[in-house]
Amino acid sequence: MGSLEEVDDLRSWLELAGELGEVRTITGAHWDKEIGAASEVNYRRPSPPALLFDDIVGYGRGPRVLTASMANARRLGMTLRLGTSLDDRGLVEALRNRPNEWIADAARYPVREVGSGPVCENVITSGDVNLLDFPVPRWHEADGGRYIGTGCAVFTTDPATGTLNAGAYRMQVQNDGRAVSVNIEAGKHGAAHVREWFDKEGRAPVTASLGHDPLLLVVAGTEVPAGLSELEYAGAVMGRPVDVIRGEVTGLPIPARGELAVEGWLYPDRREQEGPFGEWTGYYSGGIEPVLTMDVERVYHRDDPIQLGAPPGKPPHDYSYMRSVMKSAMIQDALVRAGLPGVEGVWAHEAGGGRQLLAVALHQRYAGHARQAAYLASQLPSAAYMNKFVVVVDADVDFRSLDDVMWAVCTRTDPAEDIEIMRQTWGSRVDPLRAPGLPPFNTRAVIDACRPWNRLPDFPRVAESGRDLIDHVVRRWPDILGGSR
Ligand SMILES: Cc1cc2nc3c(=O)[nH]c(=O)nc-3n(C[C@H](O)[C@H](O)[C@H](O)COP(=O)(O)O)c2cc1C
Repeated sequence: MGSLEEVDDLRSWLELAGELGEVRTITGAHWDKEIGAASEVNYRRPSPPALLFDDIVGYGRGPRVLTASMANARRLGMTLRLGTSLDDRGLVEALRNRPNEWIADAARYPVREVGSGPVCENVITSGDVNLLDFPVPRWHEADGGRYIGTGCAVFTTDPATGTLNAGAYRMQVQNDGRAVSVNIEAGKHGAAHVREWFDKEGRAPVTASLGHDPLLLVVAGTEVPAGLSELEYAGAVMGRPVDVIRGEVTGLPIPARGELAVEGWLYPDRREQEGPFGEWTGYYSGGIEPVLTMDVERVYHRDDPIQLGAPPGKPPHDYSYMRSVMKSAMIQDALVRAGLPGVEGVWAHEAGGGRQLLAVALHQRYAGHARQAAYLASQLPSAAYMNKFVVVVDADVDFRSLDDVMWAVCTRTDPAEDIEIMRQTWGSRVDPLRAPGLPPFNTRAVIDACRPWNRLPDFPRVAESGRDLIDHVVRRWPDILGGSR
């Protein structure tokens, strides 16, 4: 049996996940919608395995696509190097305060430049590039094209400081395989970098990795604080630096042990029609828009590369579990770092794609504490994008259970008093409610579902048995009442 310490790329990740019984292989699927639909069926099941698609129609054995890589606690825990047998609760427990530690440790893990690596087994230069030589899926029935970048990491730099950023920004194959559009939403760190390069040099250098250790998707696809290199953050998670090569054209890093990577330049006026695409909101809500497009100067790939797929859609989707777990941990840590006392826990519910619905559980300490937690949570950099609802509940509420959270809303929230609305907040182009042509603002509500501060002494007692009484009856009739409840 391999060990966590040996995982240093997607292949060793797959080996360990396979030994743990966490991977199923599907052969003979078509890249056109079948891989996407099979993945959808899979991630709607409880604790789904990872799916590895091989022998994809028209492409033969070898080049593969992986989905649902981190769709359960065991594989996400493994990817975060926290253990190989964690369940949901164990994972949340093991993650407590880890994002703060990884942030603090990141500077100790600058990337290690290596002259070459497995990703250089094949290097294709611009005239010979055809991204459709790889089995790129059309993920959803109404997608406007084939997306090679879903579980991707797009690398950009700050032209003034050289600071690196990685973001998961989806990439649609364009121009018969010679180009890719890179869909960076406004406000993302990569968007700021690209804009600054345009102002300074008239073009922006970009590299993107399209298959890699899923840890790189975690760090690229969640809100690591600005100014912090996601590769150093990944190094802190692994406890060793990430090996990179330098792109031949732009000099930007490319993970040396990656599967498949592309490189090129974005120009302000080089755009292609992009979309529609099944979004994480659960709709084809982004429409078709002209999006910055890169003519691919270089493709780097291993023999028989494995694309890391992470198709969104109506939740639960491919990465909604990963997003919920990671954002919950990051937001909780950020609240604590901001100095908010009494935080019991945070959960970014999958129903809201891990963004739109946050529950914050609090030990109320003073008048105004609950609203402070709500306003603060809704505007943290790790939470602000496309949040719609923050519900603050008392610490006795199971904040990870939608039923419990809604019970608290129904019984402790006075709608006339306890719901506050914010306007012109950070929304998204992909919000199904956004009216066409208008800027992507949204509105959001904070819902105070805590017992009212001035009613704490006499608020009615909850009508459920205490822990001791529950344990007592379970012990008395274990055959009937014991086991998982
Ligand atoms: C699989 C996946 C796909 C994503 N696609 C996009 C996208 O197309 N555009 C975008 O702006 N953000 C997308 N995101 C969200 C960003 O990756 C996320 O907000 C990340 O924090 C951005 O990096 P940044 O904070 O360094 O800008 C995606 C996330 C994941 C996990």
